[in-house]
Amino acid sequence: MGVRYLVTGATGALGGAVVERLLESNPDDRIRVFVRSKRRFRERFPNPRIEIVRGNILIPFNVRRAVRNVDVVFHCINFPLMNYYHTLESARLLVAVIGDSHTHVVYPGNTWVFEIQEPRSGKPPISPETTIDPPSRVARIKAEADAALSRAPFPTTVVHLPDFYGPGVTNDLVRPLFDRPIAGKNVLFPAPVDVPHEFVFIEDAARALTSVADSPGDQSADSRDGRRFTVGTEPTTVNAFTRNVYDMAETNGRIRGLPAWMLRGGALFSERVEVVREILHVFTHDTTMTGDVIREAVGFEPRTDYEDGIRRTVAWFEGAR
Ligand SMILES: NC(=O)c1ccc[n+]([C@@H]2O[C@H](COP(=O)([O-])OP(=O)(O)OC[C@H]3O[C@@H](n4cnc5c(N)ncnc54)[C@H](OP(=O)(O)O)[C@@H]3O)[C@@H](O)[C@H]2O)c1
Repeated sequence: MGVRYLVTGATGALGGAVVERLLESNPDDRIRVFVRSKRRFRERFPNPRIEIVRGNILIPFNVRRAVRNVDVVFHCINFPLMNYYHTLESARLLVAVIGDSHTHVVYPGNTWVFEIQEPRSGKPPISPETTIDPPSRVARIKAEADAALSRAPFPTTVVHLPDFYGPGVTNDLVRPLFDRPIAGKNVLFPAPVDVPHEFVFIEDAARALTSVADSPGDQSADSRDGRRFTVGTEPTTVNAFTRNVYDMAETNGRIRGLPAWMLRGGALFSERVEVVREILHVFTHDTTMTGDVIREAVGFEPRTDYEDGIRRTVAWFEGAR
């Protein structure tokens, strides 16, 4: 018998990419998704092999139906920053519903949660050993969700990923790095653009999760401490990355980063700007990570370099316009 998988958030960027990876694997595996809209999911995945459970991740009855009889859960839900507290609520609900079964939860972490690496501090890249010390309220919520899952009685693996880009990734930070250059317009980014930064192609982000799924490693129920991996790609900057997008799109334009004082000013007048400011430390500080541990543990390495990934993403945005 194959493995029974559940993907939550399967209409989202990462959840959809995980479903694609699972469809490439063993045909005996069973794939179930948890989504709010069956119709939207079927538009992308008409494959009848996938079982759909519809529901809201914040409703215990819905979550119970979704996790019944599964071996692995890829928990790929995301919430808008203004409602980010639901992230912790949903992690706690998953912990309560899964209880002490042997279900392995694979959870996508990010870079927000680590201690700030001061510029030129000479510190090595972020690794699974780096201290978790979230510098903002929103980052603290994400760190608490990681911790709630990691300390659960079931095995958990948190995989910290750089910022995603690729077909289907349309969040407010990444979309303007593609659709403005494609339209031949300038880019105004809400943070400095010359600090080392990493992006990961969405297919590689999904492969990082699937590569850790089938063996939870040695997680004794007593230690109550899940596994943690970091994924590194290739350090770049927002500036160099976006310059590549202009080159691929064969257009030209200027890339400017907003100074911190301007955002501080904006935050006085807009709650939305205030909440976005809470994650911008990942652009004002070096958040590059090392993938040495995940490579050694499960052999995972990203396959898509920026040239190939940006070319495919530009083609997708051009087709989606
Ligand atoms: N984006 C990045 O660059 C990045 C980097 C590192 C880690 N991560 C982590 O990766 C995970 C997924 O992020 P993403 O960018 O792929 O998210 P996304 O594209 O915004 O997708 C979010 C998904 O969550 C679903 N969802 C939201 N509220 C729900 C609810 N109440 N009930 C059921 N489903 C709900 C959405 O469904 P609808 O389609 O119905 O709205 C959608 O399928 C998050 O944990 C995030 O922290 C993201």
